[in-house]
Amino acid sequence: MSEVLTKTMARNIYYGGSLFFLLLFLGLTLHTEMKLPERDNRGAITEQVAHGKRLWEENNCIGCHTLLGEGAYFAPELGNVYTRFGNSTDVIKGFIKGRPADGIPNRRSMPQFNFTDDELEAIAQFLKYASEINTTKWPPNIQG
Ligand code: HEC
Repeated sequence: MSEVLTKTMARNIYYGGSLFFLLLFLGLTLHTEMKLPERDNRGAITEQVAHGKRLWEENNCIGCHTLLGEGAYFAPELGNVYTRFGNSTDVIKGFIKGRPADGIPNRRSMPQFNFTDDELEAIAQFLKYASEINTTKWPPNIQG
């Protein structure tokens, strides 16, 4: 009995293995693409939510915060802040509005952005929208 791996066998393993994992990769990609519409909550994207997202970007909130685990680790995760604040956009707006103008001495603090009421509402709606995305429990820890 020969234990030798011939060139043909090695080539078949190489091509067969490559093809197998390529198909697996394509299959999983397709599966993700098919599942996303029911998970990403896109039906809830109103003009107000989109406005909140623009404000989120323009003010670089992600420079301090994470959103669904993505971003900087200076300040709390905000993907779940709506639920953590008792499912209330009012509490979110109150928090952002109530930040002291000069920050809080000797500790990290959230800046005062001087948003208008419309802008505050848009940001709160954006954070509410984010909290309703089905992330299959990501991030695993409540503070991100
Ligand atoms: C310079 C860093 C920084 C930036 C930029 C920043 N934040 Fe914050 N934010 C903080 C810190 C620090 C906290 C923790 C609370 C505190 O002590 O002020 C916080 C807390 C919060 C909270 C309450 C979260 C909780 O779980 O207590 C919300 C909501 C929030 N920020 C929203 C925003 C939004 C929206 C933006 C962008 C418009 C933003 N933040 C930009 C630093 C920042």
